[in-house]
Amino acid sequence: MIFERTSDVVIDDIFLRLAGFLPGREVFLKLEGLNPAGSVKLKTAVALLESLERSGALRMGSRVIESSSGNLGVALAVACAAKGYALTVVTDPNAARHSIRVMESLGADVVVVTTRDAQGGYLHTRINYIHQCLERNPKLVWLNQYANSAAVAAHRDRTAAAVHQGLGTVDALFVGAGTTGTLMGCVEYFTEHSPGTRVVAVDAMGSVTFGAPAAPRFIPGLGTSRRPELFVDNGTFEKTLISEPDTVAMCRRVAETYGLLVGGSTGTVLAGVQQLAPTLPAGARVAVISPDMGDKYVDTVYSDAWVTERYTDIPQLADLDQITTT
Ligand SMILES: Cc1ncc(COP(=O)(O)O)c(C=O)c1O
Repeated sequence: MIFERTSDVVIDDIFLRLAGFLPGREVFLKLEGLNPAGSVKLKTAVALLESLERSGALRMGSRVIESSSGNLGVALAVACAAKGYALTVVTDPNAARHSIRVMESLGADVVVVTTRDAQGGYLHTRINYIHQCLERNPKLVWLNQYANSAAVAAHRDRTAAAVHQGLGTVDALFVGAGTTGTLMGCVEYFTEHSPGTRVVAVDAMGSVTFGAPAAPRFIPGLGTSRRPELFVDNGTFEKTLISEPDTVAMCRRVAETYGLLVGGSTGTVLAGVQQLAPTLPAGARVAVISPDMGDKYVDTVYSDAWVTERYTDIPQLADLDQITTT
């Protein structure tokens, strides 16, 4: 298969069966981390850029600015390099060092804000920084991934449709919530094309998106300290929250059981599947979106030193790998 642009190399038809993950049910991971940007956000990046091109705001030579916990920044750096746009990515200390170096290697300017906002996260600080930049330089183009519905459309038409096409009808689909672009796209698609499929949104404890109180979080990808405009709780999907220690434990279990090094958010979403296992009947077919792989988390989620420094209430590390299956 020959592609014309790096950002066209989207791999939407790869699923991994997690044999024995939930006895009596079938669990399939949709691996989104296999493209050149390494995450589900490549589709988001292309959609956001194209929406601003269509509106006329983005032209050859423009400078794009965007807030990202890492993956969207990398995806934008891939797409902007090929399209000839300059790029500034505003991120925070939770971003993987590796992601920052990748963005810089692809030619992006990266700004790391370090002041926590009133909710204990960094999102307000990142957005405030962008507003200040836009005031100083009105020619900057902000894609605003938290409010731009092009992201929802991209995941409705590509990610969700690919799940349906690749797996046929599934009983449940588990999706992580960050900006909620992937989630809302899946909700839109399945409401229309497979209304019998339960869609379950999984977020990190400490995120405010589902209305729970804010608390500090350390794993990038899921969660927000400011509810994203894209998120519409229309009652058609379920919601659940997972603690970061449970995320860590699940990532390690998947690595050791399946030889698959998954990213933090994949661990969170799989912990959501495990949490709701009693509600998944025997024979159920369950799809799970895995947004990225774990290479860039080896010094965080997979590092005993990093984990013990941050979480006081975790099970002994020796027990971390032994999550029980329901
Ligand atoms: C690793 C990872 N998982 C999940 C998500 C959430 O995706 P979305 O922003 O579409 O909700 C992101 C978003 O950046 C991510 O980087």
